[in-house]
Amino acid sequence: MAFSERVTRLKSSLIREILAAAQRPEVMSFAGGLPAESMLPALDWADMPAAMGQYGTSEGEPQLRELLAAEARALGLDCQASQVLVLSGSQQALDLAAKLYIDKGTEVVVEGPTYLAALQTFQLFGAECLSVPLAADGPDIAALRARLEQHAPAFAYLIPTFQNPSGVRYSESARAQVAALLDEFKLTLIEDEPYRELTYDGGMAQPIAARLRQASWIYTGTVSKTLLPGLRVGYLIASPDLFPHLLRLKQAADLHTNRVGQWQAMQWLGTDKYRDHLGQLRDFYRGRRDAMQAVLLEHFADLADWHLPQGGLFFWLTLKQPIDTRTLLGPAMAQDVAFMPGEPFFADPDANPGCLRLNFSHVAPHRLQEGLSRLAHVIRKAQAAQTAA
Ligand SMILES: Cc1ncc(COP(=O)(O)O)c(C=O)c1O
Repeated sequence: MAFSERVTRLKSSLIREILAAAQRPEVMSFAGGLPAESMLPALDWADMPAAMGQYGTSEGEPQLRELLAAEARALGLDCQASQVLVLSGSQQALDLAAKLYIDKGTEVVVEGPTYLAALQTFQLFGAECLSVPLAADGPDIAALRARLEQHAPAFAYLIPTFQNPSGVRYSESARAQVAALLDEFKLTLIEDEPYRELTYDGGMAQPIAARLRQASWIYTGTVSKTLLPGLRVGYLIASPDLFPHLLRLKQAADLHTNRVGQWQAMQWLGTDKYRDHLGQLRDFYRGRRDAMQAVLLEHFADLADWHLPQGGLFFWLTLKQPIDTRTLLGPAMAQDVAFMPGEPFFADPDANPGCLRLNFSHVAPHRLQEGLSRLAHVIRKAQAAQTAA
């Protein structure tokens, strides 16, 4: 069959396959980034106008755009509602940005590790992903400078707040240095912030996009992690030079985001009800994080190193004795435990063995002991076999 040339680069998403296998109720899944079911708020649809069933504008509902712009201004991002494009999930920002910038062989800068589905999208369009290693407080600035001096990438894709998968939150100084570098090289920034609101120590940092003076930017967010991922409502805010192009690409992709989901999001954003809900969410997830930290210390202290994540939904473990964690998935699933191997989060998976991502929002606390002790056992067994070989 004659499919497009780009389809030869389409990799199946490992996470989708794991999530499908992890559907069985007996599976303890640390794999996905799913919100806890019990924290999905009850929705009231009673007052939704019938007009929401009609076609809408590609930009999104005007009131929602106003609310999102006001929220972004409160973070320090100087923007107007006219720069806001409502999307079918923030995932669509990656698709539109890829269509705007990437031809076969186009270089783009990403963090190492970075969001798996961003790699997948960029690579589908033919990108060469140039990684910049991440440390505990942000990217390796010297490595970023070297990338910009030696290459001519189309954009830098960064997740500076509670990064997926590593949980890293860039420090103030890292944010300032990254912004200065992007301005110096006039490199477009794509800043992806689905986890910003899930902060457990109360810390809030200004987006990098808010610090730029020269470079173009796309800032993207979502209600998936704070309300419901099933609504499929995300957004991007772009510098005025980029907005018209992104709008046309959105039109070509799906005309507009579903209005029903947009209407529901409008019932929450900027309200006291939403603030209360966010407070409850943070308390709940902080509790789950702490419960997981306690059990990890019990079973993984001699196996791996990690930082306590101050936000987001993940622990990122680095095994003291590296092993390709993709090989652990089969044995773990046989024990009804799912997790995310770390290798696929790198542009060069084979060069980065030995990390795993564990979600802490989904598995009920009473199953943590069992799930993590089984996973630790699988790792010990594989490492013993590796040593013996
Ligand atoms: C870093 C990052 N970006 C984007 C997304 C996509 O989110 P959504 O399309 O649900 O808004 C996710 C979801 O897990 C994510 O972790």
